Amino acid sequence: MNKKLTLAIIGCGKFAKHFAKLFMAHPYVEKVYACDLIREKAEEFRDNYGTEIIDTYEEALASPEINGILNFTERHIHGDIVIRALKAGKHVYSAVPMASKVDECGEIVRLVKETGLIYFMAETCYYYPCAMYCREEYKKGTFGDFCYAASQYYHNIDNIGYGKTAERGMPPLLYPTHSTAMVLSAMDTYATEVSCFGYADKKGDPAFKKDGNAWENEFVSQYVMMRLANGGVARVTEARSFGWNKPSSYISGFYGTKAGYEFSNAQHLLVEKDFTTEKEHVTVRDVSDYVNPEDMVAAKGEPDFKENVANGMWQWSSPAAIQANDVARLPKEFDGLVSGHMYSHKLLVDDFCRAVYEGKQPYLNAWRAARYTVPGLVAIESCKMGGKVLPVPDFGMPEDC
Ligand SMILES: NC(=O)c1ccc[n+]([C@@H]2O[C@H](COP(=O)([O-])OP(=O)(O)OC[C@H]3O[C@@H](n4cnc5c(N)ncnc54)[C@H](O)[C@@H]3O)[C@@H](O)[C@H]2O)c1
Repeated sequence: MNKKLTLAIIGCGKFAKHFAKLFMAHPYVEKVYACDLIREKAEEFRDNYGTEIIDTYEEALASPEINGILNFTERHIHGDIVIRALKAGKHVYSAVPMASKVDECGEIVRLVKETGLIYFMAETCYYYPCAMYCREEYKKGTFGDFCYAASQYYHNIDNIGYGKTAERGMPPLLYPTHSTAMVLSAMDTYATEVSCFGYADKKGDPAFKKDGNAWENEFVSQYVMMRLANGGVARVTEARSFGWNKPSSYISGFYGTKAGYEFSNAQHLLVEKDFTTEKEHVTVRDVSDYVNPEDMVAAKGEPDFKENVANGMWQWSSPAAIQANDVARLPKEFDGLVSGHMYSHKLLVDDFCRAVYEGKQPYLNAWRAARYTVPGLVAIESCKMGGKVLPVPDFGMPEDC
């Protein structure tokens, strides 16, 4: 396409704040507008980040100048926002999840197919070092045939930032993509069936009464087993009431026929079967210094190191060695800007801007966004049915993606 992007941020909330400066700085971006239902929030963006105000989302959709929408609205309303953007001929960068209904995910895929527009789901965990490590080793063949993995996203309900909004009572698996993306992207596969159980709220939180939310949801945490298209199995945990803090999104175990990876706190271990001897023997590699952020590695001798890890000290700091190649392709205009969520923000912004500028679907496209979102949506139904095994629809994948 090779035309600079004029973008509009929709939703000037807590998360968008971390992206406004990055989009403003990207060399492929001409101008960034911002709007919010609460005008003062858009004014705050103008004053702090230099974005221009556009009064409403509808105005942004109608503007011929704007060619991309940056969706940072609340989690459960993405389907409608994104479908309207694609129908208006705009490229879309969307915070996760893709949508809260399976049909909406299907419609987004259909619109992208029909129009050739870029839809990019900005899943931060795709660039989490543990996910990158499993991808790298899986690609090399280290694990052999994939057997089983477990990934999780822990975020306690009282500090996730929902407050008393409608989002509070939503089923945790309506927001499944941190966990699913990490494990599914490692093998580039998808779920074919799910079975899910949940932990119902016992604290009497009114948001988790069946009539206290829009989803008749009583579960504050959900755990899903997924049968995968490659013959393996994955367990995904979305916990909002848990005796754990950080790391909060990670792959805790990833196993194939030849090797296994395990992670806890700050320790990443790769165990490989030793095929050079008749005896049962494995080799162990501690790959923590390669997978942990550089600042964390530098602090590993400190007495309170593990406690600081468990309190999230290095979630917003430096890149990890495994991210070096990706970091090297970032524009110099990003130098000095903060890149949150394990350094993923800059990489996601760059992926989207390049995809639109070059006219090429990104890796985190509509098809993969559906593969990371839909299993969670189906699992919510399974959970309501006491764990009934349900099939997961798949919207395919174009050959060139
Ligand atoms: N690691 C991650 O990937 C990550 C982390 C945090 C949040 N998020 C995502 O970011 C998004 C925003 O989260 P947040 O915590 O900033 O929410 P928030 O509630 O702080 O902000 C959402 C904003 O969207 C605005 N809005 C809603 N509909 C609108 C419309 N039609 N036009 C204009 N503005 C509208 C609201 O007024 C609100 O200010 C969510 O989708 C969430 O899933 C992702």
